[in-house]
Amino acid sequence: MAAAQRVLVTYGSKHGSTAGIAQWIGDALRAREIDVVVLPASGIVDLEPYDAVVIGGGLYSGRWQRDAARFARRNRKALDRRPVWLFSSGPLDDSASEKEIPPPKSVARIAERVHAREHMTFGGRLAEDSDGFLTRRLVAEGRGGDFRDRERIRAWGEHIAAEVNHTGQPG
Ligand SMILES: Cc1cc2nc3c(=O)[nH]c(=O)nc-3n(C[C@H](O)[C@H](O)[C@H](O)COP(=O)(O)O)c2cc1C
Repeated sequence: MAAAQRVLVTYGSKHGSTAGIAQWIGDALRAREIDVVVLPASGIVDLEPYDAVVIGGGLYSGRWQRDAARFARRNRKALDRRPVWLFSSGPLDDSASEKEIPPPKSVARIAERVHAREHMTFGGRLAEDSDGFLTRRLVAEGRGGDFRDRERIRAWGEHIAAEVNHTGQPG
């Protein structure tokens, strides 16, 4: 039997909702007997321990939250040698549950650079009590709420697990 695969799920999150999605993906992988580590992108220095990587970023004005973008840039070579999946969390409505939403241009460029296998967009969450001018405006426009689709997130985690288990020796 092939050695257990170790997968890193890492994220850039300003208000915690992308972090939550990363945890749920981690749970789905763990349920499929995969060794998973879920960590914020700002704290990772070495990808050597990992056979595959999932990177997620909260979307702010069409870009990934800074830590996720920086992580992808700095670890480009190591990521290129591993299977990589990307997700963005953003839309503050049900659109991401209803159809596939392509990544914004800046994230598509990251996907190209690291030769990501897939990119997925999940709905986001806007906490009513978050601060910031734009946030308050979005809340005033009635865009507050949690649009993360747990079932869709779990299904995607299981899909990644199947690929990782199937590959056995990713890369
Ligand atoms: C100032 C601001 C800008 C945003 N820009 C976008 C955007 O360009 N595209 C999008 O889909 N969602 C956008 N969102 C929604 C966020 O991506 C969503 O709230 C996400 O869940 C935040 O992730 P986090 O909690 O991990 O920081 C924006 C939210 C705020 C507050």
